[in-house]
Amino acid sequence: MVFRDFRAGGVIGKECDIYTDQLDEFKRIKKKYTDLTYNEYWSNQQNWSLSSLYPERYKNQQEFFEQYFIPLLDQTQYVCDLASANGEWSMKVAPYVNAIDGFEYASGMVEFANKEAEKKGILNARFYQADACALQFDKLYDNFMMMGLLTCIFDDSDALNIVRKVYQAIRKGGHLIVKDSMNVAGEDVIYLYNFLSRYDAIYRSKEQYYKLFEQAGFVMERDTVFHEVDKAGLAFESVGVIWKKE
Ligand SMILES: C[S@@+](CC[C@H](N)C(=O)[O-])C[C@H]1O[C@@H](n2cnc3c(N)ncnc32)[C@H](O)[C@@H]1O
Repeated sequence: MVFRDFRAGGVIGKECDIYTDQLDEFKRIKKKYTDLTYNEYWSNQQNWSLSSLYPERYKNQQEFFEQYFIPLLDQTQYVCDLASANGEWSMKVAPYVNAIDGFEYASGMVEFANKEAEKKGILNARFYQADACALQFDKLYDNFMMMGLLTCIFDDSDALNIVRKVYQAIRKGGHLIVKDSMNVAGEDVIYLYNFLSRYDAIYRSKEQYYKLFEQAGFVMERDTVFHEVDKAGLAFESVGVIWKKE
């Protein structure tokens, strides 16, 4: 059973994680620990992969990706991976396409991804440091990946702007694959700050999350739940979706 009581401002989980449904409270907590606006957890990473943290979720993400995204690709295509992290998902795509561009905020991961691609002899994947909120795409992509980004974007107008920019950057008939974690225990948005790892996240309700894409013009083709988690009396789902620009 899911029990949520935010009367005290938030709930604290067993892993030094604080959850709240109030953005001001979240900002106040975060400010106690850091002056940085960008997520400190990510900026310190070089070779982050979900596979070591949540192997089952990773396996389901990989199956969904292989079953529904890879078959959309061909050797003529240009693909974009926004929030490319250590580059592993782009490198899975590289053999099937003409070229793939990865954009990622954390410079350590960008450096790692470019070195790794070079080491593996992957010549058609390039990784660039960029903030998704400010980035302007200078190409039209055939298909697009944006997995895990919106869980890091706190402002709804930033999130909607990103989704709109992505929509503009995809050719008609192209697809977008996303995956993010959502709050499935209610209507509210839930904010997380972990004062040990410095990880922070926003968990929108499924309805709010899907609306971001629908408002931008995308049509849902399929979705699936990769993983369900109960933490501190709250319920979250990691969900994968394929959206189409018709
Ligand atoms: C949950 S990870 C997902 C990584 C990978 N796409 C995957 O599916 O495993 C989220 C990624 O988004 C990046 N990120 C967060 N905020 C960003 C921003 N404003 N611009 C670009 N990348 C950002 C993080 O650094 C991190 O690599």
